[in-house]
Amino acid sequence: MKIIAMTNKKGGVGKTTTALSTAAYLGQSGFSVLAVDMDPQGNFSQASGAKKDEAGTFDFLRDAPPENCIQKMAKYDLLAADKRLSRAEKEFDQFGREHLLENALKRLKGYEYIILDTAPAMSVLTLNALTAADAVVVCCQTDSFSLSGLDDLMGNIALAKQYYNPKLSVAGILLTRYNTQTKISEQATELFKAKAKEFGTCVFSTAIRENVAIKDSQMRQTDIFSYSPTCHAAEDYAAFTKELYIALGGDKKKWPKSSQKQSSESSPRISIPRQTATRKHTVRRR
Ligand SMILES: Nc1ncnc2c1ncn2[C@@H]1O[C@H](COP(=O)(O)OP(=O)(O)O)[C@@H](O)[C@H]1O
Ligand SMILES: [Mg+2]
Repeated sequence: MKIIAMTNKKGGVGKTTTALSTAAYLGQSGFSVLAVDMDPQGNFSQASGAKKDEAGTFDFLRDAPPENCIQKMAKYDLLAADKRLSRAEKEFDQFGREHLLENALKRLKGYEYIILDTAPAMSVLTLNALTAADAVVVCCQTDSFSLSGLDDLMGNIALAKQYYNPKLSVAGILLTRYNTQTKISEQATELFKAKAKEFGTCVFSTAIRENVAIKDSQMRQTDIFSYSPTCHAAEDYAAFTKELYIALGGDKKKWPKSSQKQSSESSPRISIPRQTATRKHTVRRR
């Protein structure tokens, strides 16, 4: 069982979209997946079309029986968030409160991947996610604010590792909402790669292109692969998920065959020149 947290203290950088797409792609590829919405805003739950007013993450953290809290969605199971989670700071004030999710998840069996969507804050819920996770994916837009926020975020992750979760690793930095049309994106990518190297991690070689189909799919409460399987974002998230699977020790040869379908039209690739990164950053353009 691999537990992966999508994180960044900034909002609007694609954490929820990445969590939704990764959970859906792993699920449709035949893996058993549980998604946990750890954000009181509940965007993941809403975009999944989860039933409201049902038991979910909040109850699960308070030791309610898992089978009462988990909703079955088409491609993954879900612990949904609701407004009660915004009371987490007050509600979960006991010693060891950072370990609630980790301990609650130990009751579960049979999931191969657990995907955690986190809030844009280093709240008790996010600390719980970092304490439970094996790996984090740092979602970033290629802008200067995301870049300058990285030192602080990486510092927080290092502290979470030191105090709560020695097994925590950073799987990599995922560039989201990527604009292939601008030179600035390419230059920013190089800066992110240099920063990643400083922190002993890498930038995923797949960047997720800005694509209006993402917003449309979320409005319709369906994942990008069901909504538009050949759009840029679906291609990018499929490639990213495979990259993540391998980065976390998955065997390339064991990737389920059913998910190996590609769109009939193959897209050209542009390679961004490398200076400092350990992995090649490739963006495909159609
Ligand atoms: N690749 C993309 N292309 C277009 N819009 C995107 C993309 N990724 C995310 N978005 C949109 O950007 C907004 C913020 O994304 P979201 O995943 O909710 O970020 P976060 O969870 O970090 O706050 C949402 O409206 C989402 O639909
Ligand atoms: Mg979000």
